[in-house]
Amino acid sequence: MKNYINILCIGAGYVGAPTMSVIAQKCKECKVTVVDINKKRIEQWNSDTLPIYEPGLNEIVTSVRGKNLFFSTEIEKGIKESDIIFVAVNTPTKEFGFGAGMATDLQYWEKAARQILEHSESSKIVIEKSTLPVKTAESMERILQKSNNGIRFDILSNPEFLAEGTAVNDLLNPDRVLIGSKETKDGLKARKKLVDIYSNWVDKDKIITSNIWSSELSKLVANGFLAQRVSSINSISALCEVTNADIKEVAKAIGMDSRIGSKFLNASIGFGGSCFKKDILNLVYICKSYGLDEVAQYWENVVNINIYQQERFVLKMIKSMFNTLASRKICILGSAFKANTDDTRESPALFIARKLVEEKVELVISDPRALNNTKLSLKDLNESISYIEDPYEASIGSHAIIICTEWDKYSKLDYNKIYKQMVKPAFLFDGRNIVDRKKLFEIGFNVFSIGKSDLTHY
Ligand code: NAD
Ligand code: UGA
Repeated sequence: MKNYINILCIGAGYVGAPTMSVIAQKCKECKVTVVDINKKRIEQWNSDTLPIYEPGLNEIVTSVRGKNLFFSTEIEKGIKESDIIFVAVNTPTKEFGFGAGMATDLQYWEKAARQILEHSESSKIVIEKSTLPVKTAESMERILQKSNNGIRFDILSNPEFLAEGTAVNDLLNPDRVLIGSKETKDGLKARKKLVDIYSNWVDKDKIITSNIWSSELSKLVANGFLAQRVSSINSISALCEVTNADIKEVAKAIGMDSRIGSKFLNASIGFGGSCFKKDILNLVYICKSYGLDEVAQYWENVVNINIYQQERFVLKMIKSMFNTLASRKICILGSAFKANTDDTRESPALFIARKLVEEKVELVISDPRALNNTKLSLKDLNESISYIEDPYEASIGSHAIIICTEWDKYSKLDYNKIYKQMVKPAFLFDGRNIVDRKKLFEIGFNVFSIGKSDLTHY
């Protein structure tokens, strides 16, 4: 008789693989297999060079891989052998047909559900790990109920709240784990099994339960609220720039109010990442489909302000560099959507890069981790862009530097050295407010920050 719980995760991406690595490390009674249709990705998970960069992840993967954590492309076999299946496939914004540009594209998720139905030979708990529209569990149940050979599928919603760059810590010390289930006898039994798994390392009072729909909706709303804070502070940054107020001082003053709190008040060139925009647009789409137009409009404005912030940044560059950027060499420092990740999905740096190429800029992009993904994302423009990892080399002969990602190293560069090798007047646009702007101004740079008055020599 087997004495372990067989866990399968469908989808070996930024969520599936780190989450399963932590479950394997913390639950020795579980055998965890992560499968993916992407053969190359699975090969990388089985190699010394993991397919994603995430601080601390390598150590965890190597401590359990081949013991109770396995990466494989054998999806059918994995489904057959599993007791519990997490579905962590991608759920991007739909790019075609009804709801294009707003609704969630459920094709990957639906295919996974159908594969589960086709290959299951025993009853299973199926867990939504992907972020999904409210009521998706109901559709999954409908698909899976087509089985008439006595196999039961209990559906749970267990959204993931990790953030990239801090994923390992977020998984080891989550603020909360949310599990949504039906309130039926079988639903509660399935819920308990998942609670027991998390209880191996998460305090019981941090494991919260709800009905399935609250759980699905809470994930969308959590991302909505986080993104809303960024858009709120970014909207005020525009006002600071014209009134000589300083956004950092304003953020500090409001953040010390315990009702507001200090987190997620860093003004920036806008939020990026694969989820904020897509999840808010999904929320907007759901509201619209229920006729809640005012609610939809409210949330859509969070995305609109984000677009405004990025466009505003480029316009400010053009204006401050004497209304033309054509043939100027400009160096972007940082293309990842935030520090400590190699992920460039929806990165504001890519938006800015595209706009600068349209302005006929000679563009150089530098990043310590994300250059491969950047090249892939901008492959249609690769003739107009050079990629140089070393920031000193990248900035030689440039008219302007733009800091797009808050990598720690960019606040500590030798800006004296960089200034000397730039064309004068030298411009620095700090899209993350991480440099010592007064010092840079004294060196000779014209310095432009977010939500602060400009420091110019002309
Ligand atoms: P990802 O694109 O990195 O990974 C998804 C993986 O699923 C891909 O490797 C893809 O090949 C695989 N896949 C798709 N269909 C499959 C199928 N039928 N069978 C096997 N494999 C299949 O995506 P991600 O960033 O890990 O996000 C996954 C989900 O988690 C999304 O719904 C996202 O919204 C949510 N989420 C992401 C984050 C994050 O930080 N990235 C955080 C919380 C939640
Ligand atoms: C976000 C959420 O924080 C996670 O809880 C959630 O699980 C995840 O989305 C998801 O569903 O994918 P992530 O996108 O990885 O995580 O990273 P964040 O730290 O939230 O940053 C998102 C963007 O907002 C980044 O571009 C970041 O630079 C920007 N940001 C964040 C700011 O501009 N200012 C801030 O104060 C905070």
